[in-house]
Amino acid sequence: MSKIMDGRKVAQDTEKEIIRKTKELKERTGIVPGLASILIGNDPASEIYVRNKRTACGRCGMHSEEYNLPEETTENELLSLINQLNINKSIHGILVQLPLPLHIDPTKAIRKVSPVKDVDGFHPENTGKLLQGEPGLVSCTPYGIEKLLDYYNIEIYGKHVVVVGRSNIVGKPAAAVMLNRDATVTIAHLETENLRPITTAADILIVAIGDPQFIKKEMVKDGAVIVDVGINRNETGKIVGDVDFEDVKEKASYLTPVPGGVGPMTITMLLWNTLKAAEIFAGDKYP
Ligand code: GUN
Repeated sequence: MSKIMDGRKVAQDTEKEIIRKTKELKERTGIVPGLASILIGNDPASEIYVRNKRTACGRCGMHSEEYNLPEETTENELLSLINQLNINKSIHGILVQLPLPLHIDPTKAIRKVSPVKDVDGFHPENTGKLLQGEPGLVSCTPYGIEKLLDYYNIEIYGKHVVVVGRSNIVGKPAAAVMLNRDATVTIAHLETENLRPITTAADILIVAIGDPQFIKKEMVKDGAVIVDVGINRNETGKIVGDVDFEDVKEKASYLTPVPGGVGPMTITMLLWNTLKAAEIFAGDKYP
């Protein structure tokens, strides 16, 4: 029976540290970390994410601003809003909620965000720094996975980490984060031929492919650590991950649930990044 990695608890503990550091920064410099979220259109999942971000900012004593813009917003309107936020001194983090409507090029929006305010860690300057192992803003889900593994004292150094999924948001940066921690990393994805011998070789298996309950017990090694990034709805409307939790739970040594695993960590690391951006703005050295 595997141990459950409780993302809600780890997120709460991390939040306590964020609250303490936010207060300390405010007392020392007068600076209150500020996050601006831009949401275009009415995607229900995105609306929930943005609402959760707002309440989390409130809990941590941070300033938050939301820009809920209509679906018809033009690319130029979005880019000029990002420009204004780039020079706004009360904003230290800017988040453009993805996916954007099809008429807006997400790469243009991502590149417009000032790299020092890019709390999603999506700007090529930050992804480049991550790949080169330099300090920068690290994208929230991979960063949250690293925190979660560290919390449970799971060794990354020298281990074989298999990442299933190659998105810019999770798979690729997760592989870079693990490589920077001296893991041996394999990236697989839905086009990978003969996936099973690859996933069964993993000491730590990170799955982010958006395919409900795709990973079954035959695909995992005895005692593997499994991190499930997926959030899907199954046929009955229930939220499930990319891993078949019930099927693998006797085999894994540690396992994240869905919901309540990686998800809460993502939002917490967004606040962590906002705090970090504000500290750097205040002239603090980092790390
Ligand atoms: N949409 C789904 N996940 C994310 C995320 O981490 N950041 C942003 N900006 N949009 C998302």
